[in-house]
Amino acid sequence: MNPIRRAALRALPRVQLRALGTAFALLFLVLCFSSAGSAQSPQVAATPPMGWLSWNHFARKIDDATVRAQADAMVSTGMRDAGYVYINIDDTWEGDRDAQGAIQSNSKFPDMKALADYVHSKGLKLGIYSSPGAKTCAGFEGSLNHEDQDAQTYANWGIDYLKYDLCSFRDVMKTAATPEAAQHMMVDAYAKMRDAIKKTGRPMVYSFCEYGDGAVWQWGPAVGANLWRTTGDINDHYARMETIGFEQAGLAKYAGPGHWNDPDMLEVGNGGMTTNEYRSHFSFWCLLAAPLIAGNDIRNMTPEIHEILTNKEVIAVDQDPLGMEGRRVWKDGDLEVWAKQMKDGSRAVILFNRGKADAEISAAWQDLGYPAHVSANVRDLWAKKDLGKTTGKFTANVAAHGVVMLRVTP
Ligand code: GLA
Repeated sequence: MNPIRRAALRALPRVQLRALGTAFALLFLVLCFSSAGSAQSPQVAATPPMGWLSWNHFARKIDDATVRAQADAMVSTGMRDAGYVYINIDDTWEGDRDAQGAIQSNSKFPDMKALADYVHSKGLKLGIYSSPGAKTCAGFEGSLNHEDQDAQTYANWGIDYLKYDLCSFRDVMKTAATPEAAQHMMVDAYAKMRDAIKKTGRPMVYSFCEYGDGAVWQWGPAVGANLWRTTGDINDHYARMETIGFEQAGLAKYAGPGHWNDPDMLEVGNGGMTTNEYRSHFSFWCLLAAPLIAGNDIRNMTPEIHEILTNKEVIAVDQDPLGMEGRRVWKDGDLEVWAKQMKDGSRAVILFNRGKADAEISAAWQDLGYPAHVSANVRDLWAKKDLGKTTGKFTANVAAHGVVMLRVTP
């Protein structure tokens, strides 16, 4: 026998044992840290959270006036009425701690409570960002050893959403003796902030940002996560968006009302993709039941970007109350079909062309979970047009990097 093959066979039982060990370790962690229950009532994030976050467009250049202007635009553009609720401040708002250790905002945010009041007066909610580490990713003050105090400060300000970003807590994890102990520390850190939020009595969406480390989808929900990042950071390029989107295959079973896979914020409207590609990005995130967190400057949107972000029928796919994440149901090279079961029994369907030339793609009823003989109404969600009744399958020509998005109703 080939020596490499022999070595691989010898290694097999050890690999299996390790996998079993990891599964038991995960189960143990979940049992330990779920004992205090979820931080949230089941109403929080019953459908994927919708809103806006400052990082993708503004990064460090974010301040009180800009956040207020985004809140104004959320209302004037009709985005609030389309379902976007959360106005979220990402990293770089943090100042020093006062003599009692309470976190203060820096000079860019002179009065967080007043900002929250303003955002609330628009019928919107305010989100904030911190880290379980001593420092945030941008090097600002994190919440390490101040969890209760910080959660209470957020509650006093009127915060409704916390993005909790692992960052420098990775340095703390390096002190662990084993990978299992490091994982235990991370889970403990997220559970600590969950308990701190719970103690305040103020409902907050709790967003885990730890890039999918340690299979967070397996333990995040039991540790109070309403959403958890499944990947590293998105950026405003088609290739990155596509990689992240298709990496979501296999994660659907972990999502549901109150707890969602988060493939990161939207880049729609930031300028690095074509309108066609942004339509694919938005369609895909909706089919994945992903949080819809716009990351553009919503004061300055072209009509095409506005139309993408506010397409009610596409948003309804994301927000369907059944809370099923879509799955890949067919693939042939660069051509894929993804489908999502909706509460009314219909299917939302994406015909996805990842290739560089236009192509014909078919969705077969049997791949959607319907018998081939069933007659179903096909509606094009971007053209906003019924395409009539069809039996067995539906075929369309799909532009390169583009999608055709359908709702198929028997
Ligand atoms: C990390 C996160 C980003 C953003 C930045 C802020 O990279 O993944 O989403 O919050 O930190 O520093």
